[in-house]
Amino acid sequence: MMTLSEGLIQQRIDEVRVRYYPQVESTNDLAKEWLLTGATTGAIVVADEQVKGRGRMGRSWYAPPGTALMFSMVMRPPVDHASRITMLGAVAVAQMLEHLGIHKVGLKWPNDIQIDGKKVCGILAEAVWHDKDMVGVILGIGLNVRVNFNGTPFEQTATSIETITGRHIDRVDLLADLVARLHEGMDELGSEKLFTEWTSRLQVLHKTVTVADVHGVVEEIEPDGALIIRTSDGAKKEVRGGELNYEVEDVGKRGTEGAG
Ligand code: BTN
Repeated sequence: MMTLSEGLIQQRIDEVRVRYYPQVESTNDLAKEWLLTGATTGAIVVADEQVKGRGRMGRSWYAPPGTALMFSMVMRPPVDHASRITMLGAVAVAQMLEHLGIHKVGLKWPNDIQIDGKKVCGILAEAVWHDKDMVGVILGIGLNVRVNFNGTPFEQTATSIETITGRHIDRVDLLADLVARLHEGMDELGSEKLFTEWTSRLQVLHKTVTVADVHGVVEEIEPDGALIIRTSDGAKKEVRGGELNYEVEDVGKRGTEGAG
C-alpha cells in the first residue's frame, strides 16, 4: 500500500497548492483556517487519518489510516451558487467511479455517493461567513478506498472502491482525477449541465420519501438542490439538507442512510 506524502501528491497535482498531514482533527477545519489566511482557490488539505472527522447532521466520520481518501478543497463560488458545490462534488466523484469502470453508481439525495445502494463516499460542504459576507466554501470529501466493513454494523450499508473492483486503487490517482474534475467544474457551477448530471443520478423524482417530518412524493427538484414534496394532504413543501429515507414501496421497507 502506497503511503501518502505531500511530495507525492504535489508531484502529481502541480497546479494546486497542497497541504498533507498524516493525522488531523478534520481537514475541513484546516481548510477553513487556510481559506481565512489566503489560500488560493482550489487549494487542498489532505489527511491520512482524522480523529475528529465530521459528517453531515452532526455525525462523525472516521476511517482507519491508509484506507480512505479524505480531503477538503478551498472554494470561492459566488454566494448564489454555494449550494451547487455539493452537487459538483457528488457529480465529480460519481463520474470518477464510472470512469474506473464501476457500474451502478448512484447518488442519494442530497449528496451521498453509492455503489449498488451502498455508501462509498460522503460530502460535507461548509460555507464560511464573515458577518453577512460569504468568504468561501470548504468542500470536504471522504471516499472509502479500502475500508473493510465486514463484520461491522455498516456491512449492509457501506462499501469501498477496492471491494467493488477487486484490484488495488491508488489514492493519489483518485485525488488527481477528482481535483481535475472539480477545477474544471468550478467555472460551470450555475450550468444546466451540472444540474442534469446530478439529478440524472439521484433517482428521487416521483418517489415517496420522508425527510425529517415531511412525507410525500417528490414532484420537483429546485435548481439549488431542494426537493419539492407533495404531502398526502395535498400541501407542497420545500426541503433542503436533512436526512432522506426512501420508501421502498413494493416491499414496504424504508432504506436507511449509509455509513462512512
Ligand atoms: C457524510 O457522509 O456525512 C459526510 C462525510 C464527509 C467526510 C469528509 S472527510 C474530509 C472532510 N473532513 C471532514 O471532517 N469531513 C469531510
